Amino acid sequence: MAISEQTPEVMPSALRDAGTMQLVRRGSDATGAQAAALFALANGLVGVEGVIDELASAPAAYLPDAYVRRPIEYHESFPGYATATDTRIACPSPVLLRLSIDGAPVDFAAAEVADTETTLDLATGTLRRMTRWRLAGGRSLEIAAERIVPLAGAACVASRIHIRALDFGGAVTATLTYGADSAAPTGAEADDPRISARLRPAWTILSPLPGDPSSVTRFAQDAVELAYAQHVTCPAAPVAAVVGGHVVHGELVVGGVLTIDRVVALASSRGRPVDLAALDGAATGFDAIAERQRAAAGQLWDHAGLAITGDDALAAALRFNLFQLHQSASRDPHHSIGAKGLTGEGYEGHYFWDAETFMLPVLALQAPAKARTLLAYRIAKLDRARAHAKALGHARGALYPWRTIGGDECSSHYPTGSAQYHINGDIAYALALYVAATGDDDFRSQAAPMLFDTARIWMEIGAFDPRRGGAFCIHGVTGPDEYSALVDNDFYTNAIARRHLAYAADTADWLRGSVGARSAAADVDDAEVAAWRRAAAAMWLPVDAELGVNPQDDAFLGRPKLPGLASGDGHGPLLMRYHPMILFRHQVAKQGNVVQAMAMDLTAMPLSRQRRNFDYYAQVTTHDSTLSSVSFAIAAARLGDEAAALAFLRECAFVDLEDRHGNTSHGLHMAALAGSWLVLAQGWGGLRLDGAAPSFRPQLPAAWTGYRFRLQWRGSTVELAVDNMGCTYRLLAGAPIIILDHGRPLCVGSDPVTMARPALKGVIFDLDGVLTDTAEDHYQAWQALADRHGFAFDREANHALKGVDRAGSLRLILGQAAADIAPDVFDAMLAEKNAAYRVRLADYSPANLFAGVTELFGALRAAGLKIGLASASRNAGDVVRLLGIADAFDFIADAGAVPNAKPAPDIFLACAAGMGLSPQDCIGVEDARAGISAIHAAGMVAIGIGSEEALPDADLNVPAIGDLSLGQILSAEQAAAGQGNRSTRTGKVEDMPC
Ligand code: BG6
Ligand code: MG
Repeated sequence: MAISEQTPEVMPSALRDAGTMQLVRRGSDATGAQAAALFALANGLVGVEGVIDELASAPAAYLPDAYVRRPIEYHESFPGYATATDTRIACPSPVLLRLSIDGAPVDFAAAEVADTETTLDLATGTLRRMTRWRLAGGRSLEIAAERIVPLAGAACVASRIHIRALDFGGAVTATLTYGADSAAPTGAEADDPRISARLRPAWTILSPLPGDPSSVTRFAQDAVELAYAQHVTCPAAPVAAVVGGHVVHGELVVGGVLTIDRVVALASSRGRPVDLAALDGAATGFDAIAERQRAAAGQLWDHAGLAITGDDALAAALRFNLFQLHQSASRDPHHSIGAKGLTGEGYEGHYFWDAETFMLPVLALQAPAKARTLLAYRIAKLDRARAHAKALGHARGALYPWRTIGGDECSSHYPTGSAQYHINGDIAYALALYVAATGDDDFRSQAAPMLFDTARIWMEIGAFDPRRGGAFCIHGVTGPDEYSALVDNDFYTNAIARRHLAYAADTADWLRGSVGARSAAADVDDAEVAAWRRAAAAMWLPVDAELGVNPQDDAFLGRPKLPGLASGDGHGPLLMRYHPMILFRHQVAKQGNVVQAMAMDLTAMPLSRQRRNFDYYAQVTTHDSTLSSVSFAIAAARLGDEAAALAFLRECAFVDLEDRHGNTSHGLHMAALAGSWLVLAQGWGGLRLDGAAPSFRPQLPAAWTGYRFRLQWRGSTVELAVDNMGCTYRLLAGAPIIILDHGRPLCVGSDPVTMARPALKGVIFDLDGVLTDTAEDHYQAWQALADRHGFAFDREANHALKGVDRAGSLRLILGQAAADIAPDVFDAMLAEKNAAYRVRLADYSPANLFAGVTELFGALRAAGLKIGLASASRNAGDVVRLLGIADAFDFIADAGAVPNAKPAPDIFLACAAGMGLSPQDCIGVEDARAGISAIHAAGMVAIGIGSEEALPDADLNVPAIGDLSLGQILSAEQAAAGQGNRSTRTGKVEDMPC
């Protein structure tokens, strides 16, 4: 069922009078360069701009192979510089219509448009256009045309044209020909690095080759040859093939219509004539093409349907964006998706990292075969990536080019080109995501050589730094933010390299364990895999002690800011106005590298740090890249920052519909369009793909009353319907699948499953005896003190000290004797005990963390819960640092700063406040009776680590922290809140029945 059938259609203002499955533009909005991009049609094999047939005299089609390679000239060249660039060239327009009336050619360029309206119908995949012309001499003519580029068909453009004489009669000659007039960029466009390389030399019409049918026209430019084969039918008039097209000679009476169908199949080749067999796949009947197109579009929406109740215009924009992404997604394994897809000439048609990081994830979840094609393209270019790595002086490995078509580096500016080594990690990220979403293990083994050779580059440019405790540091790279270049330890690069190295190591182990796949792993030995794992584990991803944020790179936080420019000053992108070095020297970002890593879940990060990172980088980021709004919107949605999330979402969702960057005429911003869906799914839906099963944390902004979206997972289609209570998961097709909602695994099968949104917002942990076994060390230190001073004390007596602060504990040990001890002696005893305790702490390391803590913290974060620490110990800060979990907490309450120790509630209340939460939104976890009392006194639910006998007051008892699951925590909260009617699940993904 297509989603359009379920949604009451409301006219969305931003799409101007359109239904929510249509984009409609009238008058001057329906013509011109922006409309040409918006109304582009494509099918991954060919694209044609949304130009009006009778005005389509300039090249307006894009074929993936139609690109030229030109040398890059340097006055000063150095080893390894890129030597040539690929430039995609616009091919002759396959929709040009010329008319003569009573023998006189109609000059449409000089005619007046009385009315025009163009509609892109997303439900049927058809472009419809009607124009009323007032011709010189006063005649009125209406031309209505339907156009289809079959989504699942060959490279062809099908049109049905209706020519109606409104107030005259006479002989009409319609010439169905091709537009190849050249036009060079002028004015400001010629200086815009995002487009200036575009070429507009003329196409030459080649003489037919022997045996060519008369329906075929051949063109050439540089090394590119094209062949167009045209099929024209007109029931009411004769059709004749002529050089460069067909001619229809008809008669029109007042009000009469001449209908012509034309189908043009297109093929290209490089360095040799096109083999006409390449044109064979195109169907020739317009009606048959239209019918297949309806089916193909229906299937697209079966997989990609969505709705937003409360913002139809936004939903309509997202549908438009998805439609354009699917249209431009390459179906040719020798090509990827250009930054502008197949909709325009911007960025020379080059493929960048955004194909893998923004577009591919959407395709993997909606049309996995298209995601596979993009990865197949990278595999096909592995030899070029190896050559690139070699050219840059690397002994081993492969480095993918920053921008390319044919596989070689096409950037002449290496600081923001080849230095973006993160492209290797982006490809690995995309591969892992595709494999997770499809279970396509064959492809994983096919891709393994690429995965390994790209991983090797990290070992080439990184090193273990003894001055940083042996951390693995990566030097001299540029992250996605091109306003900083050649930095050390770019946060995004390090984060994606870590993911890449770990995935490569896992894949090597997996291959060696699977029968028949050994050969793919043959050139990787144990030592190399171990080195990858070591580098991943030691990756340098620090937190700045003062600001509590992740530095974008080693130097970023120390650079001066660019006053007044950081938030955009309305004068266009800084890259157009400043020498790059001015930008490199300042703390200014084109897009946020740290926020990008957050949006892609590359690092586990407490929500409070996410918030600090977001706030910090928001004030130094100009969002000059359209990609920026995507990651900021995802991050803001996950933080529940509705205003920011919706503003950034609108920024990417409407980037082209409202021409927000003023350059939609260069082509559509394909990554931002794809990203607008990622904001819905990953931002609001909380989708994460870094586990065994897709995990969701659906949140609802107050501005909407609900929303729905679909995705494909391992051949099944699931729809999420989110409302203010929670989320209903529905299996639309395929076998039952396991997913997680707020960390709770569930099987989505024949019956829809509704999961309530948990009210819980934070979990506050005690430290000693909960996260680590310091309780034993405290005991040993007290025992030593007691022995030295001759007090009676033993393990039994120690039970009473659990959770009690240092002075309170000593008072308990001394009992009546405490009154006789002078304060300075008492304090000396405390110091003595603490010294003994700290000696024991010296050996602490992450190995002392109780089993299961890391996993539990991960699950809590995935569920969007904050994590706090409320320990009575003044040593807590040092202990969590030694355990390696200091950065895992949203807030660590300071025992020294609260007036009353446990069992008073003070420290739990301070911790909730420090996390910005109300006590009733938190749960406490304790191993001591005093702690349980403190939690209850704070008004929170208490989970006891220990038996019911030991902790009878706890609301839930578990023997050890490793036994405590997120599901149990959520159940405890809901049970205590008396919300027994809410559905909760516990257990692990592996234990699920489906
Ligand atoms: C608590 C422990 O967490 O901290 C107690 O359960 C301990 O046993 C108390 O006495 C104080 O610790 P410290 O490190 O401040 O002496
Ligand atoms: Mg304790």
